[in-house]
Amino acid sequence: PSVLVLNGPNLNLLGTRKPEIYGSATLADVESLCRGTAERLGLDVEFRQSNHEGALIDWIQEEGPRVKAGESIGAVLNAGAFTHTSVALHDAIESVELPVIEVHISNVHRREPFRHHSYISPVATGIIVGLGIAGYGLAITALHERAAKG
Ligand code: DQA
Repeated sequence: PSVLVLNGPNLNLLGTRKPEIYGSATLADVESLCRGTAERLGLDVEFRQSNHEGALIDWIQEEGPRVKAGESIGAVLNAGAFTHTSVALHDAIESVELPVIEVHISNVHRREPFRHHSYISPVATGIIVGLGIAGYGLAITALHERAAKG
């Protein structure tokens, strides 16, 4: 089976964007980390990034049936700033009953108040915040354990 890893807006700039907050690792480094973790667990990875809300919604909608068919164990989602704005992403996740682990590289609760609310959290299976890019690997591991329990 596979795991879907989705990255939202501006995460393509990882490594050069506010390194004091997000660190110096690039999105390619995040992808390598995800592939390493997944490989150890016997999983394939679909790793994607988009600056467009609709693209993320399409990918979430497509993943629901794949979980039902046993082809996917769920999704890791760093929705970037759409986390704090997107009712549409919330509805998409809820509509397909997709297991989603919400990940944020930074500790959003230590930052500006507008980052404290997430539209994703109420429909997420779990949340990993503030552990840097390691959070992606932890999220994949959590989805794997959840799928193994059945
Ligand atoms: C982020 C936190 C969001 O508030 C921000 O808009 C991002 C990245 C994180 O990974 O820490 O783009 O999701």
